[in-house]
Parts: sequence; C-alpha cells; structure tokens
Amino acid sequence: MRNFLWVLMAIFLTGCLDDNDANAQATDSVASGKKTFEENCVSCHGEGAKGLAKDWKKKNADGKFPAPPLNGTAHAWHHPPKGLLATINNGGVKLGGWMPGFKDQLNETEKQDLLDYIHSLWPAELQKIYDEKFK
Ligand code: HEC
Repeated sequence: MRNFLWVLMAIFLTGCLDDNDANAQATDSVASGKKTFEENCVSCHGEGAKGLAKDWKKKNADGKFPAPPLNGTAHAWHHPPKGLLATINNGGVKLGGWMPGFKDQLNETEKQDLLDYIHSLWPAELQKIYDEKFK
C-alpha cells in the first residue's frame, strides 16, 4: 500500500512539473496570439472572441451571419487545429461566408499563436476534450 501511494505521488508530481513547462511556453504564445487577435480579428469576432452579435446563429440585417464567437460558446472547438488554420488562411468566402483570408498577412508563428490564444479562451473541460481528441 505504501509503495502504491509513493508511485501515485510520483506520477502526480511529474505530471505537475511537465505541466508547468508546457504552461510557461503556452503563456508566451497565448500573449502574442492575443496581440495578433486584437490587431486583426477583434473587429469582427469581438473582445475576447466573444462575438459582437447577441445571437451568432441569427443573420444580420445584410443577410449574412455574424462572425461567431471563438471562445468556446460556438463551435470553433469542434474543429481540429488544421481546420481552424484553414479558416484563418482562406477565410470563409469559398464556403459561402465572408471572413477574409489571412494567408499572406500573418506568418506561421502568428497563426499558431492565434490557435493557442483561442484555445486559452475555452473552459477547462472543453480544452481537455479538445486536447484528448486532437493533440
Ligand atoms: C471581416 C470580419 C472577420 C475578420 C476580420 C475575421 N473573421 Fe473569423 N470569421 C468571420 C466570419 C463571418 C466567420 C464565419 C464564416 C464566414 O462567414 O466566413 C468567421 C469564422 C472564423 C472561424 C471559424 C469558427 C468556427 O466556429 O468554425 C475562425 C477560427 C476564425 N474566424 C478566426 C479568425 C481569426 C483568428 C481572425 C484574425 C486573424 C479572424 N477570424 C478575422 C469574420 C471575420
């Protein structure tokens, strides 16, 4: 029994250490992703990617759907990182939407940091589901 507890504790502690390393890296990319977001995306997706419309499923007066929130309340978290990246690169025009593409406006690091920032906005339980599925 004693040994078993030690093993559990060791697993727990190593888990924590690993997490801290990963978190430190993630914090940098989240901060730079936030900056890129505020410069390029906030005008449509809103502060903290909460969206600008009350109901993102209801069309605007111009007949177009508003930009959805990316903070875990819509469905960004259903899409694998590659899918999100494709939207950032190509926008939504080809799929009948109106988001512009950022393929040439942003470099790969900026795009990855954006993904980290968006991921950081989701509630912990969604992050967990997402990471288990896609990471
Ligand atoms: C001019 C408005 C506009 C800007 C600027 C904009 N978006 Fe969008 N975005 C949209 C709209 C509208 C959609 C829904 C698809 C469509 O209509 O093209 C969307 C969809 C998305 C999606 C897919 C969400 C989902 O639930 O599937 C992601 C991810 C996204 N945008 C990220 C970004 C990022 C990151 C930026 C900044 C680099 C950005 N967008 C800038 C309007 C915009």
